[in-house]
Amino acid sequence: MKSIVETIQEKIRPQFEGDSSGHDWHHILRVLNMSRHLQQTEGGDLEIIELAALLHDISDYKLNGGRLDEGGKVAFKLLLDNDYNEAKAEHIMYIVDNVSYKGANTPNEMNTVEGKIVQDADRIDAIGAIGIGRTFAYGGNKNQAMYIPELEAKLHDSFEEYANEKTSTINHFHEKLLLLSDRLNTKTAKEIGKQRHQFMENFLNQFYAEWNFQPENK
Ligand code: ADP
Ligand code: NI
Repeated sequence: MKSIVETIQEKIRPQFEGDSSGHDWHHILRVLNMSRHLQQTEGGDLEIIELAALLHDISDYKLNGGRLDEGGKVAFKLLLDNDYNEAKAEHIMYIVDNVSYKGANTPNEMNTVEGKIVQDADRIDAIGAIGIGRTFAYGGNKNQAMYIPELEAKLHDSFEEYANEKTSTINHFHEKLLLLSDRLNTKTAKEIGKQRHQFMENFLNQFYAEWNFQPENK
């Protein structure tokens, strides 16, 4: 008999294949893989972690037309439809509803070790070389400019502002990506995050140097 993790993995896969907004199936697999790695040192219920990792983007507000709190309910229903334990499904609903970044000045802390691990794994996938790639992919998918020098980056005070205000892909680094390494929950994730954060700093320095290239005055 198939495990619940295998069953859910097979059921949701078609929904993520072919996505070009940075939330494709390989993102789900990387988050699953990183969550398993973090669990080895940080502990927590492996099955809940695996299911929450698989379901964390199941109905993201950026992909479902803007509805903010649907993901958890969709995950909960899918788990119960597959005869999963209701209390555990509620825990997974809580993780899915609270995993996302909601702006610089909007804290969103997880209060279970399983939640902290899945949030860390998702955030690690938003930084470093993969994070850079995903952010430019997302920007292109949303017809967002790569960089608008006169548009200042903002530290948003509410989720609504963060989700709705015009930005550029380079500003997104200052509004989210560069803030993530300090917001990782677990020690294991913080160690991995450090190197990926430095890689983004190096990328941005090179980007600005190329953008501001000046011909020599002879
Ligand atoms: P999380 O998984 O923390 O919720 P998101 O779903 O917000 O992450 O974002 C998924 C990917 O899309 C990430 O790599 C993220 O940085 C990128 N992204 C989200 N919003 C923007 C934006 N306005 N511009 C560029 N990239 C973005
Ligand atoms: Ni994600």
